[in-house]
Amino acid sequence: MIDPFGRAVTYLRVSVTDRCDFRCVYCMAEDMTFLPKREILSLEELDRLCTAFVEKGVRKLRLTGGEPLVRKNIMSLIRSLGRHLDSGALEELTLTTNGSQLSRFAGELYDYGVRRINVSIDTLDPQKFKAVTRWGDLGKVMDGIRAATEAGLQIKINMVALKDVNEHEIVSMLRWCHEHGYDLTLIETMPLGEIDGDRTDQYLPLSTVRSRLAEEFTLTDIPYKTGGPARYVEVEETGGRLGLITPLTHNFCESCNRVRVTCTGQLYMCLGQNDMADLRAPLRASEGNDLLNSAIDEAIGRKPKGHDFVIDRNTKQPAVSRHMSVTGG
Ligand code: GTP
Ligand code: 5AD
Ligand code: SF4
Repeated sequence: MIDPFGRAVTYLRVSVTDRCDFRCVYCMAEDMTFLPKREILSLEELDRLCTAFVEKGVRKLRLTGGEPLVRKNIMSLIRSLGRHLDSGALEELTLTTNGSQLSRFAGELYDYGVRRINVSIDTLDPQKFKAVTRWGDLGKVMDGIRAATEAGLQIKINMVALKDVNEHEIVSMLRWCHEHGYDLTLIETMPLGEIDGDRTDQYLPLSTVRSRLAEEFTLTDIPYKTGGPARYVEVEETGGRLGLITPLTHNFCESCNRVRVTCTGQLYMCLGQNDMADLRAPLRASEGNDLLNSAIDEAIGRKPKGHDFVIDRNTKQPAVSRHMSVTGG
């Protein structure tokens, strides 16, 4: 799949549920209305959809949410998708999770071919963790990470950098991650969906964070690539890797290789744009994939050049009204 700007689309992110057992302040409002079940693709439909993308050249498949591990019977989907790893069609099957259910599922994830997962943790302070997630239990997430490590999964921690909230914990998070052998990725908060707080107050440019870190650590750009949007540096003092996801301060759209599908089968060609293609109708219209494949081709043919995210005092409404939890990033 090649888009109009010559970029090959090889990475599919699939949000398997819009539900989550947390309500991170930058991601959701406290009071969210979730989709009724009939709107949501069944696990069989999700499998068909992912398989169609793999047949079209997707090599990396990431399940997201909401929280992917709260979807009922999600392991049966992961087990089934694992067949594309066995056949060599897929290079990576992975997920981004809040870690709350990892203790239960880590072993199975490994058994079905998952080797690397991203876990979102914005703070190591249990009280603050509860505040950021509105009611999340850090202890449970830590148990999950331990179980995942024991199961053989490589861990990357995602931390959304938030002014005044966790900006003074970045160094301790970096040290903790690297001591435990985890990569750390810092993320700039992106303006998607109405939230209760003010994004301008929360926004912390990673250019500032990098300059601050450079006073304490020796940071060297490295060509390490995961196929995701992060640019990586090596931290000489800790011997670990730090990823920086900078949609606001250093756009990475020119090398975008991704599209994402919501749990209702809407294909978004860009996280930061509203244009989408409905794949649920062609998926449900017939058992064959002809209609589905044409809908995918048509959508890839209009993948936009990039996003229009801005965060400033004058921008009251987010450019994109859907919440991050709908597409999982
Ligand atoms: P790796 O495979 O480890 O590189 O993961 P990843 O960075 O691709 O995925 P993850 O789910 O951990 O996402 C990390 C952050 O990147 C989230 O905040 C996503 O919203 C963001 N992200 C992923 N893809 C895009 C994109 O195309 N555009 C923008 N602006 N952000 C993205
Ligand atoms: N901006 C940036 N990252 C976000 N995430 C959720 N909402 C936002 C946002 N508004 C992160 C989560 C998770 C990843 C999938 O996206 O913390 O790590
Ligand atoms: Fe849930 Fe993830 Fe959104 Fe937090 S960022 S509320 S863990 S979907």
